[in-house]
Amino acid sequence: MWTGHHLISMEQADQDQARALLLLAHRNDFAPHVLEGKSVANLFFEDSTRTRVSFSLAAQRLGAHVVDLTSKGSSLSKGETLIDTALTIEAMGADALVIRTQQSKLCCEIANCVTIPLINAGDGTHQHPTQALADALTIGRAFSCDRKWDFSGLRVAIVGDVVSSRVARSNIGLLKALGARIVLVGPLAMVPDSMAELGCDVVHDLDTVIDQVEVAMMLRIQFERGSGDGLGSTAAYHRAFGLTQDRANRMKAEAIVMHPGPMNRGVEIVDAVADGNRSRILDQVTHGLLVRQATLVKAICGREHS
Ligand code: CP
Repeated sequence: MWTGHHLISMEQADQDQARALLLLAHRNDFAPHVLEGKSVANLFFEDSTRTRVSFSLAAQRLGAHVVDLTSKGSSLSKGETLIDTALTIEAMGADALVIRTQQSKLCCEIANCVTIPLINAGDGTHQHPTQALADALTIGRAFSCDRKWDFSGLRVAIVGDVVSSRVARSNIGLLKALGARIVLVGPLAMVPDSMAELGCDVVHDLDTVIDQVEVAMMLRIQFERGSGDGLGSTAAYHRAFGLTQDRANRMKAEAIVMHPGPMNRGVEIVDAVADGNRSRILDQVTHGLLVRQATLVKAICGREHS
């Protein structure tokens, strides 16, 4: 999970490290000036609302100074590489880098070049570790697993465009490390049977599992990565894999509905369910701020104390 002081991937999530970070976020008793005098650079070269704003707010609430850089207006437009951009920001004395990029695994390459902590804020279809932490915090609080962070006994359905989803990959790694069972649900093109190699069940009929899970985590179709190509109509997708009110009614009494956002309402989820009693979607956003505070403290202060 942590590679030195970098947080890049949940593929090899360590349950003790994950539990420690979740506990730090859950306690939410950060000293307000713990990062005073520090600078956090947010390098967002792919669009974002939740992750970008919450990293900024998290750093500011802990007393850090925040620098925001996006593709538009940066020297990336003149052909500079993201690695050179990261090295340039490091040379100016930033204390941590938060990077979002369209290029899968580029954060791994950058982490090998910089000495300051790097937090992956989403790289292509590869990983989005702090989203998975926000989701785990949400599940832990919803099912009162917030003392031991032991999710054994919980079955989580990740539904939709799994193959293109960095959120799904990070959640599979983290939730399995915490003891949850995962079932991946979607059409063959979005959930190939080979994904069972990740240690998950693979199902192509949502109706066979919707009444058996504690968590339904809905994903949007990532049209920007070509996922909708050849799929047919979004109406047909909605009929087969959308979380309708009828399907929500068949879920276990205690089951919750999640979505990392942004939602395409009416496609993977209907308004009544997104805004209904089972929904924890806005909790996920709130918890994103807490886990990003915890991650910045651990990355920056943990480094100083190691
Ligand atoms: N879940 C997520 O990463 O949302 P944003 O793209 O808005 O940051």
